[in-house]
Amino acid sequence: MASKIDKSATAVLSPSSVPLTTNKHLIRWVEKMADLTQPDSIHWVDGSKEEYDLLCQQLVDAGTFTQLNQDLWPGCFYARSAPNDVARVEDRTFICSLSKDTAGPTNNWEDPFQMRRKLKQIFRGCMRGRTMYVLPFSMGPIGSPMSQIGVQLTDSAYVVVNMRIMARIGAPVFAEIDKDTKRVVPCMHSVGAPLEPGQQDVSWPCNDEKYIVHFPETREIWSYGSGYGGNALLGKKCFALRIASNIARDEGWMAEHMLILGVESPSHEKTYVAAAFPSACGKTNFAMLIPPAGFEGWKIWTVGDDIAWIKPDATGRLRAINPESGFFGVAPGTSAKTNPNAMATLAKNTIFTNVALTPEGGVWWEGMTDTPPKECLDWRGNLWTPEIGRKTGQPAAHPNGRFTAPASQCPTIDPDWENPQGVPISAIIFGGRRPSTMPLVYQAFNWSGGVYAGATMGSEITAASGGVLGKVRRDPMAMLPFCGYHMGDYFRHWIKMQRTLSSTPRVFHVNWFRKGADGKFLWPGYSENMRVLKWIVDRVRGRAQGKETPIGWTPHFEDIRWEGLDMSEERRRAIFDELQTVDRAAWRKEVMDHEELFLALHDHLPPEMIYERELLICRL
Ligand code: OXD
Ligand code: MN
Repeated sequence: MASKIDKSATAVLSPSSVPLTTNKHLIRWVEKMADLTQPDSIHWVDGSKEEYDLLCQQLVDAGTFTQLNQDLWPGCFYARSAPNDVARVEDRTFICSLSKDTAGPTNNWEDPFQMRRKLKQIFRGCMRGRTMYVLPFSMGPIGSPMSQIGVQLTDSAYVVVNMRIMARIGAPVFAEIDKDTKRVVPCMHSVGAPLEPGQQDVSWPCNDEKYIVHFPETREIWSYGSGYGGNALLGKKCFALRIASNIARDEGWMAEHMLILGVESPSHEKTYVAAAFPSACGKTNFAMLIPPAGFEGWKIWTVGDDIAWIKPDATGRLRAINPESGFFGVAPGTSAKTNPNAMATLAKNTIFTNVALTPEGGVWWEGMTDTPPKECLDWRGNLWTPEIGRKTGQPAAHPNGRFTAPASQCPTIDPDWENPQGVPISAIIFGGRRPSTMPLVYQAFNWSGGVYAGATMGSEITAASGGVLGKVRRDPMAMLPFCGYHMGDYFRHWIKMQRTLSSTPRVFHVNWFRKGADGKFLWPGYSENMRVLKWIVDRVRGRAQGKETPIGWTPHFEDIRWEGLDMSEERRRAIFDELQTVDRAAWRKEVMDHEELFLALHDHLPPEMIYERELLICRL
């Protein structure tokens, strides 16, 4: 592989063991955890570019990173995980609340006292032979009243450099901690692979035994055995969703698995929406959408692609921040056609994991180009050619291969994406991969109908979640793996939020994935989703008509802007009719399925959900 190494970064990072904080609790905790885990050294992370470069060099030397061809991929690195560490491990993710009932039936629960005993045991000596990094991070812009602070102790340099892209880290966060005005969430992480003296390290240390543990009452995270993604970058799913959902419930705000985007019209009217789709349903694509032909002068601005923290402001209007500062996006399927903004974002200063490595020192994944490279090394490091791929059925990139890219590099990043006050949210959109039943778009009649639509959301299983591919699972508000407490109480919290608001966002449900009788997708998706988004904005602004159906308001054919869509008028009408069909028989089955979810949650279910279901049944 001809990848040019940047000669400027050859020095080795010597651990800076002097605490970068004056906070005595933090220093004591670090000492206590070092006593437990026995690292060789402690490094207080300052978050500087120099430190980042040295850590990347260290990862290159260790064989974890390959520096990509700097002419093609400036500032980019490539990593391969161990084959048993490629995705979030939901069956090894635990919510250890004091009572099992608080965690609810959708979470794995363990008694917190027993879990602590177990964790003490597995963490004892687990960092031997390694450096423990003290990594302070702010979820949300540093100093924003909506931000939250954590400190992750980790023995993975890979995690540190990824976290530098995904969150604000280092000295400015220590300075915030020293002001002593905010809670600090302790996040303990180890790959669980101690080294004996003289033992040669592997390129991706991890452990077969994995524990991703949350203590919601004490706001603590302990993660063991994995170095990948949401298992290891603890600011993301563990903090910004599972722990933050608990904080948000207690403090009257919302921590949601949602993208945030702004729609700007040719007259510069700007409308922000937040949208919840389950993992790998195109949140990143939607957040970076480029309006199609017929929408000249329109622009989509990206605030976030995965997580939204949403809070009422002093006037009772919901405002949202993206707590992250980077995108940890699924690479396969991302291309100049499907998401040119993502491709521009990841063109430099990006870390690629579990995609394919080309002989030129570049990266490739399924769907990136129409023609695959003649040969490459696949995500396991084996020779891959299109021929081998055809014979073995093995893709070159893992379906959950990822890019970690700075949000600031996104061409459509919103000028207000780091506004400490957040952006005002006018609509909330739910959606999933539903081959049938769900129309392209409908608007819930009101807030509690909207909460019902979100609560009963479902989607086909994808690579990011693990499990049986192709099956439909209920994924309320796309939060099934991420809600850190009882799902019934979470619905109640949603219902209650309305009482704190002066104006309530309108709620919509979309489905880009409905299929026709021929098994093909009916809707072209991607850019064309702008046509749906415009109707949503028009509804929010009180401009568009809606047609009343049993499930909510839907657009008339004339309410959608069709101009520029490469399709005959006749075909447009036929497709629209099929897409918007509310099949009463299918919906009756759908409602029976809702019952199944509700039965599991019944003792915590807010009455509004029962009423909404009854109303829906009557209307059907
Ligand atoms: C993600 C996920 O990684 O939802 O964003 O799985
Ligand atoms: Mn996600």
